[in-house]
Amino acid sequence: PRSIILDCDPGHDDAIALFVAHGSPEIDLVAVTTVCGNQTVDKVTANALAVCSLAGMTDVIVARGADGPLRRAHRPAPDIHGESGLDGPPLPVNTMTLDDRTAAAVIVDEVMSRPAGSVTVVATAPLTNLALALRLEPAIAERASVAIMGGAIEQGNVTASAEFNILVDPDAAQEVFAAPWTVTMFGLEVTHLALATTEIRRRLIDIGSPVAAFADELLEFFGSTYADHQGFDAPPVHDLCPVVYLIDPSVFTIRSAPISVETEGEFTLGRTVVDLRPQTVGGRHRVATGLDVAKFWDIALDSIGRISI
Ligand code: BDR
Ligand code: CA
Repeated sequence: PRSIILDCDPGHDDAIALFVAHGSPEIDLVAVTTVCGNQTVDKVTANALAVCSLAGMTDVIVARGADGPLRRAHRPAPDIHGESGLDGPPLPVNTMTLDDRTAAAVIVDEVMSRPAGSVTVVATAPLTNLALALRLEPAIAERASVAIMGGAIEQGNVTASAEFNILVDPDAAQEVFAAPWTVTMFGLEVTHLALATTEIRRRLIDIGSPVAAFADELLEFFGSTYADHQGFDAPPVHDLCPVVYLIDPSVFTIRSAPISVETEGEFTLGRTVVDLRPQTVGGRHRVATGLDVAKFWDIALDSIGRISI
């Protein structure tokens, strides 16, 4: 299995991504690192510990990361994720211990101590911790690859230009895209196809485990905020995309492209500029442009169903 570090801000869809990463036999989930994003880092860290406890992820490192973007004020998302960052069901009891190291230190330690090319850092949150890890040890960019939920080829979700994870810390995102590793980007064009419809939720409930029931309660809350604030009939489970990709890359259509992030524009701050022009040759980064929805949910639900607790 591939070794992955999941850098996240749970977050309803982050929590479900955690369950799938833990349940899949194709993934060795080494560490869960948290970052200020949907809510403060204290809140999302408490959420991560509770979610990992519920799923019995006792052998996974959990470490707290940055308490704010590199050089901007934080903008949380209570309209989508509630005041706790994980509103809806009661938070499970925490039985896990937080690692002493910072998230950035854990990312550096795990990438540098494992064979080159064996670790993928999956980020489903603002990219602050990844930028801090790169500053701590630039050589990680020669040893790891990155898969992110973030950005959009076209329209954003917080502004017309920008998606939430990138807009919260555009400076960090630009540092991550500028480093010499390959970033595979799962932006809104594909994550908006990953909808937890009534039929998907029925299949989830049919799994019949405490984790599946908790995930469905998360989707109930997430579905209602997405209906109220974004006009969706069913919630898009954004953060699952890079995780399912690492389980089975054939689920997605992927193209190579140069990608950079706008850090100054008055109207375009946080825009991911994905250069898909036919005359553009190559490009180190990769972007998902399509998704096999049926296969996507078969994999996600199968992985949740494998969690034995
Ligand atoms: C992203 O923002 C967060 O609210 C979600 O967890 C996801 O990572 C979607 O724009
Ligand atoms: Ca997230």
